[in-house]
Amino acid sequence: MQKFVDNHQLASLLPKDFVFGAATASYQIEGATHEDGRGTSIWDTFAATPGKVFGGHTGDVADDHYHRMPQDVELMSQLGLDAYRFSIAWPRILPQGRGDVNQPGLDFYDRLVDTLLTKGITPFATLYHWDMPQKLEDAGGWTKRETAYAFADYAEVVARRLGDRVAGWITLNEPWCSAYLGYGIGVHAPGVRNRQAALDAAHHLLLAHGLAVPRIRAAVAPDKQVGITLNVYPVYGEDERLETLRDMALLDSFSNRWFLDPLFRGRYPETFFADMGLNPPPIQGDDLATINVPVDFLGINLYSRNLVRGTAGQAPLADAVATVSPVPEACYTDMAWEIYPDALKDMLLRLHHDYNVKALYVTENGAAFSDKWDGKSEVVSDPRRVSFLQEYITAAAEAAHEGAPLKGYFVWSLMDNYEWAEGYRKRFGVVYVDYETQRRIPKESVLWYSSLIKDYHAAR
Ligand code: NOJ
Repeated sequence: MQKFVDNHQLASLLPKDFVFGAATASYQIEGATHEDGRGTSIWDTFAATPGKVFGGHTGDVADDHYHRMPQDVELMSQLGLDAYRFSIAWPRILPQGRGDVNQPGLDFYDRLVDTLLTKGITPFATLYHWDMPQKLEDAGGWTKRETAYAFADYAEVVARRLGDRVAGWITLNEPWCSAYLGYGIGVHAPGVRNRQAALDAAHHLLLAHGLAVPRIRAAVAPDKQVGITLNVYPVYGEDERLETLRDMALLDSFSNRWFLDPLFRGRYPETFFADMGLNPPPIQGDDLATINVPVDFLGINLYSRNLVRGTAGQAPLADAVATVSPVPEACYTDMAWEIYPDALKDMLLRLHHDYNVKALYVTENGAAFSDKWDGKSEVVSDPRRVSFLQEYITAAAEAAHEGAPLKGYFVWSLMDNYEWAEGYRKRFGVVYVDYETQRRIPKESVLWYSSLIKDYHAAR
């Protein structure tokens, strides 16, 4: 891939009406976990459990966005963002997960949406970005079918209230992570370690999406769009040995097709459950048809790739495929994720060709680096993030130019925030947050991003 194109060239590769935004998620930025009737979420519980999160960090305060929302939206406006992707905390809306609606919770998002619209910023809302009401988890969480029905009810409550104004509706964020990291290996809430439970949870997450889509559509204005966001992780091979090709296919079903195939083809990859060495999840009646409901767009979150080195002899389990790490000569972010911009181009084109997805958004892309603020400068220097964004956005633009129906790009993240099990030690923001004072300081990357957005609109 060509390393650098200037902003004007880059802008010229992009289709018209492209939206540039930034993304966040409720538990990662809001704080105020005990205010205005919010119920407890599984992340409150997990973060409070010793040994689960780096430094015992919790989301109790986070970026204090719940109290600073108007200033944060003002910042987005100054940066010239076209769109903002945020998530709604289920326990703010239904503190027990189902039943009584907590009006102050809905009011907060109502104000957020109106504030965005006043500034000309298009709202995209994610309904589930991992903060499940603890009450539902106490009854089995995503391993139980009932949770899918509770989610569809919750989705309708929110859609009725915000459906006249929120342009893009994302049912779930990265259900792969909810299922596998949350129930399979337990590194995320609720911290269950049971690979079979992960398969069951994945099925109920997919079902939750399928049940919610028609409920949302029925409640929102006809011009609003409904979709889902998946984390995708393109798989490459170190060589072309048969074992490498075999293991690449295994890892691809685990990393990508586990969710893509049911959503866009109405079936799980053929041998997937056996490839995991597990039983199928409890699929009932028309579940797969429900899951296969047409969506208006697919959002992808893409950060890195995997490079497979095939293992001779018996095939590994799909989630135990050997990968090369570190890749010689490669550059890595602070998460130890390889920087590989072509992965974004390749994946966008694949989704277009293999799944015929009609509209795509990059709903997250970005990088953690160990940014430092000296306590006085007006701008934080982050040259590596500037290059990262230039290269990945160029790759996305090339995919669009080659026919992928790419409609927008959201950088992860607007500002530094609570990086789940890593706590506050990983900084993904294009705006720096000084957690002691809650001051927001722009990084160079956001100045570059703003200039790209301006150049794009000026050229149209
Ligand atoms: C995926 C998640 O959706 C988001 O919450 C997380 O902070 C970023 N990627 C970075 O890991």
